[in-house]
Amino acid sequence: MSDRIDLAAFPPDFLWGTATAAYQIEGAVAEDGRSPSIWDTFSHTLGKVAGNDNGDVACDHYHRWREDIGLMRQLGTNAYRLSIAWPRVVPGGDGPVNPKGLAFYDELIDRLLEAGIVPSVTLYHWDLPQTLQDRGGWPERETALAFAEYASVVAARLGDRVSLWATLNEPLCSAWIGHLEGRMAPGLTDLTAAVRASYHLLLGHGLAVEAIRAAAASAQVGLVTNLSTVHAATDRDEDVRAARRQDGHVNRWWLDPVYGRGFPADMREVYGVELPERQGDLAAMAAPLDWHGLNYYMPATVADDPSAPAPHVRSVRRLGVPRTGMDWEIDANGIEALLLRLTEEYGARRLYVTENGSAYPDVVRPDGTVDDPERQDYLERHLAACASAVRKGAPLAGYFAWSLLDNFEWAYGYDKRFGLVHVDYRTQVRTIKGSGHRYAEIVRAHRGRTRKAA
Ligand code: FCB
Repeated sequence: MSDRIDLAAFPPDFLWGTATAAYQIEGAVAEDGRSPSIWDTFSHTLGKVAGNDNGDVACDHYHRWREDIGLMRQLGTNAYRLSIAWPRVVPGGDGPVNPKGLAFYDELIDRLLEAGIVPSVTLYHWDLPQTLQDRGGWPERETALAFAEYASVVAARLGDRVSLWATLNEPLCSAWIGHLEGRMAPGLTDLTAAVRASYHLLLGHGLAVEAIRAAAASAQVGLVTNLSTVHAATDRDEDVRAARRQDGHVNRWWLDPVYGRGFPADMREVYGVELPERQGDLAAMAAPLDWHGLNYYMPATVADDPSAPAPHVRSVRRLGVPRTGMDWEIDANGIEALLLRLTEEYGARRLYVTENGSAYPDVVRPDGTVDDPERQDYLERHLAACASAVRKGAPLAGYFAWSLLDNFEWAYGYDKRFGLVHVDYRTQVRTIKGSGHRYAEIVRAHRGRTRKAA
C-alpha cells in the first residue's frame, strides 16, 4: 500500500507532524490562573455541544504532556503543531500577563526540542478570553489590537526557540460558524457581526505578523486556513454562480486580502455589510507571509438557494461517494488542487498541510489494539495526493496529521475521534491506533530514503 505514496517527492527536511489545539486537549480550565474562554461558556450552555460535553478535562494534556511527547517519539514524528491558550497567558484578554500560563508552554517547548520535535505554535485556535467577548469580541476592532499585544508577549517569551508561528487557525470558522451559523462559540447568527468579525480577524492576523516579527527575529510567520474545493451541484447557471459564491465565502474572502488583493468585490456585494475599514488596514492584512498552512478535510458541492443566508447556497450530498465517520466526503484530489492553487494563484512561498485527518468510531479490541483501516486509507490517499502536488511544483515543507490524540471535537464533543492515538476518557489511557503505527512506518520509510540519498 505504501507504494502509492511517492515518498521521494518530499524534501529530505520534510516535517512529519501531528497537530492539536489547546482547548481540545488541555483540560485544567481553572488551573494556574487560566480564565474562561468563549468555548468554556459555549460548551457549558445546555444544548450547544453533543452530549453536553465540555473541555474541562479533555485529554488532561495539561498534566500528561510528558506522556504525550512520549507518544510523538513513538510515532517518530519530528514536528508538532500546538496552540497556545490566550486565556492562560493573558487572562484578562489584554493587560497583565500570567507567568504560570507562559511557564507551561515554555517547559513544553523545551521538552519538545529535547525530544527532537520541532514545535509549530498557533496563537489562536478559537479560545478567545470571555472577557474580550464581553467587550464585543471579534466584531470589535479592540480584539484585533489585543490579539497583536498577546502575540507579542508569547513571541517574546518563546521566540528564541520557536521559529514556526501561525497567527490564526481557520478564521473562517471563527467568523462564519461562530457568528453566522451559530454552531461554534460565541454562537451568534448575525451577518453583520460575522462580516465585522472576519475583518477584525484578518486585521488581528496582520498586526500579529508584525508583532511576532518585532519580538522574535528568527520567526517564520504563517496563517492557517481551511479551504475547500467547490463544485456546482449541476451545470445550471444558478448553481455555477452559487459555487462561485461559495468559493468566495470559504476561500477567496480569506486569501485575497492576505495576498494583497483586498476583499473580493463580488462577495462584498453578496454580504452587503459595510466593512469597518480604516486606512492602512489592508496593507496590514497583506503582510507578506513566510508560509501558508492548509487545513483540508473535504470538498463542497453546492446548489443555489436564495432562501438561505449569505452566500445563499445549500450543500448537496453527493451519492455513492465514500465518507468518513463525520459524514464528510473523502476526496484526496482536493488537497492536491488546493496546494496547487495556493502556489499558482496566490504565490505562496512555502506550504504546510497543518491539518488533515478523519474521524471514525474506533474501539479498543480485547487484545488492546485499535484497528482503523479507513483512517489509514484516508491518510495514505491524502499523502499520495500531497506528493503529487509537490511533483507539480507545490513548495510543501511538512504535513501535520489531525490529530495526535482523540480529543474534544468542538460541537461534536467526544463522540468523534480524529486521533492517531486513541484516548479512553474514563482512564486517560492512550493507545496508538493502527493508523498511528502506519504513519510511523511512512515517516521511517521517508527518513530511510533520505539517509540513503545522503
Ligand atoms: C478543524 C479544526 C480542528 C479540528 C478539525 C477536525 O476545523 O481546526 O480543531 O476540529 O477541524
